[in-house]
Amino acid sequence: MTPFRAMHSAEAFCVSLAAPDDFEGWRDAARRLIQADVPPDRIVWDSPADHSADLFAQGERRLPAPPAHAPQPRASRDFVQYAKSAILHSDSKRFSLIYRLLWRLQAKPRLMEDKADSDVRSIDELARQVRRDIHKMRAFVRFRVIEEADGERYVAWFEPDHHIVRSNAAFFVRRFTTMRWSILTPRGSMHWDGEILQEGPPATRADAPAGDPVEALWRKYYASTFNPARLKVGAMLKEMPRRYWKNMPETSLIPELIAGAQAREARMVAAGGQDLGERPATLAGMAEAIRSCRRCAIGCTGTNSVMGEGPQTPVLMIVGEQPGDTEEQQGRPFIGPAGQLLRAHLQDAGIAIEQAYVTNAVKHFKFAPRGKQRLHQNPTAKEIDVCRWWLDGERALIRPRIVLALGASAARGLLGRTVSVQKERGIPNLLEDGSELWITTHPSYLLRLQDHGRAEEEQKFANDLHRVAARVSELSR
Ligand code: URA
Repeated sequence: MTPFRAMHSAEAFCVSLAAPDDFEGWRDAARRLIQADVPPDRIVWDSPADHSADLFAQGERRLPAPPAHAPQPRASRDFVQYAKSAILHSDSKRFSLIYRLLWRLQAKPRLMEDKADSDVRSIDELARQVRRDIHKMRAFVRFRVIEEADGERYVAWFEPDHHIVRSNAAFFVRRFTTMRWSILTPRGSMHWDGEILQEGPPATRADAPAGDPVEALWRKYYASTFNPARLKVGAMLKEMPRRYWKNMPETSLIPELIAGAQAREARMVAAGGQDLGERPATLAGMAEAIRSCRRCAIGCTGTNSVMGEGPQTPVLMIVGEQPGDTEEQQGRPFIGPAGQLLRAHLQDAGIAIEQAYVTNAVKHFKFAPRGKQRLHQNPTAKEIDVCRWWLDGERALIRPRIVLALGASAARGLLGRTVSVQKERGIPNLLEDGSELWITTHPSYLLRLQDHGRAEEEQKFANDLHRVAARVSELSR
């Protein structure tokens, strides 16, 4: 139980939390304090990382017991969500801010909807900074491999701004389940042995190894994916602030890559690549530009283009291959037979398709005429790569946290390389903006299968969608 110590003033209380991210401890204490009608300005909150101990008086006193039938405090769901994020912030005033909001919520239950309120704005900002730090850790942790008596261990050093290490651990467990790894940080460390996650004390950079073949791999990967035509130094620095660079092997290449970008771009153009210029800044602008896009042979057939559709700030984005005959005629993605199958499976998994932004790797229909029919043809790798410009643009505006690729063409459109769906399904990839990419088969593939083969593949498809649904609900909380 959280101990309460009295301050100099007889009616002021100090709450010592067990850890800087101790949401449960804060919640239990806050509940009792609200029930005992203790206003925010009579409480000092403290945790081992928050150094407010000198504010406390000697002597101990427990919190006054709340009246026997004191009602439970009221807390809206969005308040709880904000509180869970904001408590991870390193600002020592976070505990009192969250308590003040809880206190005020008792009289004004819809307070969180008031976006002009200064406390609401403050918690929103803290939560945003925490989310950004979580995202940075997921994107920028880099492992070095070391040999231990019982095998290899991957060790990473990371310096988070906030108390996010513990709450981020589950992500790394899921992503690197089969590896033995340690993530060392000045705020504490996490160790995974394939089965058990253990917490360790804060570490220093000297505790982490430097330099090994994992770095060489990252460097090679980064150099080959670096696209000079997309170089925007300002945007890159914003996403990847310089202070992270020192822990990321591939960033030693950045000055060199920037310096060589113009030359590489010139080579790309000479080799038949195109200067893609600026992308429209809105989805409507992009839809307009895609309509007249003639950068590849499919666009040149003059068929209707099909832009993505759905909410503009969804957690989930679904990417197919290209519009089919029905989609092309009606100008909407996934409304033909493959779309029906997809919708049914999404619904079984607990995802309404309207929750997701749905789009395709290629925006025009590629077909071969056969009498009155138009038979679907697969886009080539080059056509997918050319259309990637548009898919990247949609992702940059929509910023989904999870992307589901249906089939190998969609996966290529997202990763820029050939993908074996059977090998890469079930384990999420991390895209360069920190979103998770999940890969599964395309529903048209299922429609082409018969009998037992179809039942088996549909089951695997259903399993993949259930995994994605679980992640969507986790990240929507
Ligand atoms: N198949 C796709 O990949 N996308 C659609 O929109 C329809 C069918």
